Amino acid sequence: MILSPDIRSIHRDPPMGERLVVRAWVRTFRNDRFISLSDGSTASLLQAVVDHTQFDPELLRRVATGACLEVEGRLTESPASGQKFELQVDRLEVLGDSDAEKYPLQPKKHSLEFLREIAHLRPRTQTFGAVFRLRHRLASAVHRFFDERGFFWIHTPIITGSDAEGAGEMFRVTTLPPGHTAQTDEGHPDFSQDFFERETNLTVSGQLEAELFAMALSKVYTFGPTFRAENSNTARHLAEFWMIEPEVAFAELPELMGLAQEFVQYVLRDALEYCADELALLDQRQAEEDRQKPADQRAPMGLIEKLKFVVNNDFERVSYTEAIEILRQSPPNRKGKFQYPVEGWGVDLQSEHERYLVEKHFGKPVILYDYPANIKAFYMRLNEDGKTVRAMDVLFPGIGEIIGGSQREERLGVLSAKMEQFHIPEASLWWYLDTRKYGSCPHSGFGLGFERLVLFASGMSNIRDVIPFPRTPGNAEF
Ligand code: 4AD
Ligand code: MG
Repeated sequence: MILSPDIRSIHRDPPMGERLVVRAWVRTFRNDRFISLSDGSTASLLQAVVDHTQFDPELLRRVATGACLEVEGRLTESPASGQKFELQVDRLEVLGDSDAEKYPLQPKKHSLEFLREIAHLRPRTQTFGAVFRLRHRLASAVHRFFDERGFFWIHTPIITGSDAEGAGEMFRVTTLPPGHTAQTDEGHPDFSQDFFERETNLTVSGQLEAELFAMALSKVYTFGPTFRAENSNTARHLAEFWMIEPEVAFAELPELMGLAQEFVQYVLRDALEYCADELALLDQRQAEEDRQKPADQRAPMGLIEKLKFVVNNDFERVSYTEAIEILRQSPPNRKGKFQYPVEGWGVDLQSEHERYLVEKHFGKPVILYDYPANIKAFYMRLNEDGKTVRAMDVLFPGIGEIIGGSQREERLGVLSAKMEQFHIPEASLWWYLDTRKYGSCPHSGFGLGFERLVLFASGMSNIRDVIPFPRTPGNAEF
């Protein structure tokens, strides 16, 4: 019998002495003899050995970096030190065309910037193969985590008529022809002729709809694409990203903080266990990058060491008010080193402040809570003090905010007053307000930006390198 395993299974349990058929892409072809093959199923490669006297030279000429092969032969022990086994090839086929000369991915180090320009080919590199296998494992761990705890996955809509975050950073969805300028009598755009007969956008968050389901199924979560038209050209922002949003009936803020920590630690622990090869490769990549950097810009820990640290240590819980005091007294603030000096209570925190707290002051993930009401979204529960809300942000080293969440305002009167203050018409969210009219209860939820999690877990430094096809201002090529 001829087996045709993927390279991952060959490495897991090498079928020594068996005849195998392997289909994979050529990494390198050395000395007319050694073909290094990858099929992307694992970080490991397979060494195939050919005796060039046995093959048509014209055929072997087509065996070049990037070409796709089907090879057949016996798996034997390898005499060389690089690998334990190798495939002794006696049949070889090149499956399709491949222009080796023009192939952009030569076997040498390419910059991540260059690879972004060939995002259709970059998954073939070792680094991106590792990132996307890791991304898959993290996504599947997300579902396992919630499933094991009795949460239901709710598919919230992608096209919505509401702005959950109230920030107005939305992409409009329309089938009206370009230049359509119909207006209502009041001079507003007239959407009655549009597909949905109302204004619609791509969702910025599934939270509001998740809340409706938490009021029925108790524990739910969403995991889907989210869109933000914010013009933030940073290494942490995407216009299209994936968000995970659990929503839990009867949970108050401290319980939500516990859930957030348990959740992130669970998925990272899972990756440490099941993506050991990928993480070893990415750990080494980060170490190499670091060696090029000046000492003060190097990561304080290796990738795997950092992940183990986060998995094994409690996150620090700090109120916004305490954080402002720490920042006000901090050396960079006193020496005028912050771009945005921290003068007093009430200001929003910038990423430089978040990173100071996490990376310099506490040296571990931090959960900041009880923010000023007027810098947070309308749905967050007002505290007794009348000026702060039960918000929490989880801040991570090297990333900044990875999670944003809150206990929700379940009191109809308080919520209505807040919406009025924030100029959110009740008519636009009548269905949301209904949950506060019928069987309202305390509940809480948060949103984790999936790419920020993958960024942290992979040790990559730009969010564009952890999503297959990044959408950012001015960029939607692939
Ligand atoms: O803090 P945000 O805006 O919170 C919400 O959307 C809430 N509705 C969540 C909830 O309570 N259910 O976003 C949540 C997370 C951020 O912490 C960040 O990790 C990520 O989403 N995020 C982005 N990730 C990539 N690119 C962007 N432009 C992002 N904006 C937010
Ligand atoms: Mg936020």
